Amino acid sequence: MKKKIIIDTDPAMGTKGGDPEDCFAIMLAMNSPELEILGITTVQGNVPVERGFSNATYLVEQLGKDIPVHTGKPGTYSQDRNEKRKWLGQREEMEQLTPILPVENDKKGAPAFIAETAKENSGDIELVTIGPLTNIAQALDLDPELPTHINKITMMAGASTVQGNVTPAAEFNVWADPESAARVFGSGIPIRMVPLDVCHKTRFGREQLNLIGENEHPFCQFVQKSVDPWLKINPNKEIIDQGLHLYDSLAVALSFMPEIADFKKAYVSIETKGEFTDGQTVSEFNESIMGQIFKPKPNSEVALDLDVEAFNSLFKERVIDFLVEL
Ligand code: BDR
Ligand code: CA
Repeated sequence: MKKKIIIDTDPAMGTKGGDPEDCFAIMLAMNSPELEILGITTVQGNVPVERGFSNATYLVEQLGKDIPVHTGKPGTYSQDRNEKRKWLGQREEMEQLTPILPVENDKKGAPAFIAETAKENSGDIELVTIGPLTNIAQALDLDPELPTHINKITMMAGASTVQGNVTPAAEFNVWADPESAARVFGSGIPIRMVPLDVCHKTRFGREQLNLIGENEHPFCQFVQKSVDPWLKINPNKEIIDQGLHLYDSLAVALSFMPEIADFKKAYVSIETKGEFTDGQTVSEFNESIMGQIFKPKPNSEVALDLDVEAFNSLFKERVIDFLVEL
């Protein structure tokens, strides 16, 4: 039986200078017979919401899929945080390749779509989140029963035993909206967390992009155009030399193929008050002194190791080969 999922995402393929990787993850999900995508919801993160909404809609249309797309509102979960993260909703200077759709075009909105779809599919639905957790926190506010409807959230989030990527303490998706992450980790919904610890083992480089770019198909040319600047202008030199990390594709893969990773249970709490550590995913494996004394009940299983070859061959078959043969 297929696993029913909603993908919550901040897709930037279609916005030059944004991380294009979410769209590979969505393509991986679309080409995975193990999954049935009930909807795609977009959130402020890699790009402002209207751009993410436009990019996701374009992707669905270009690949001829009948999948509803709904958008979140601009801003973070808490107004105070919004002040500090205001620039995430701006960045108007970025060149846009896909037609911009106003957020107002979507009457329902992402949180209501998540809450309603979860209720309709109660006990038979999972979320795969590959962006900040704003929409999920807002959906929890709309329906306090949401945790009883959703079996699991597989999320690309956090840095468990390694340093963050936005700050030494925090990974981008959690850092972008820590209060929403705190709400979701405290919700009681079982979490499969896919942190930087394993995401950093994955790569997509120039060689793979060239293979896709050799296909004259307009969609492959679009992929080439969107990804090329990210591989060139990335502030991280390692990305330029060795390729981007397939963070979000790994989360999609582990939503239906967890056997390719090693997981360890942890009680994960989110730092929201730190001067230097906002957005840190503090992972208690009950191995610290306090953990051994208080033994908090785990709220997450955290991926800490990966069969990289198994992931690479899945990604090659379902995303790279798919695009090369389009
Ligand atoms: C996460 O942040 C974004 O840049 C990527 O799309 C991924 O979801 C990695 O920290
Ligand atoms: Ca993302």
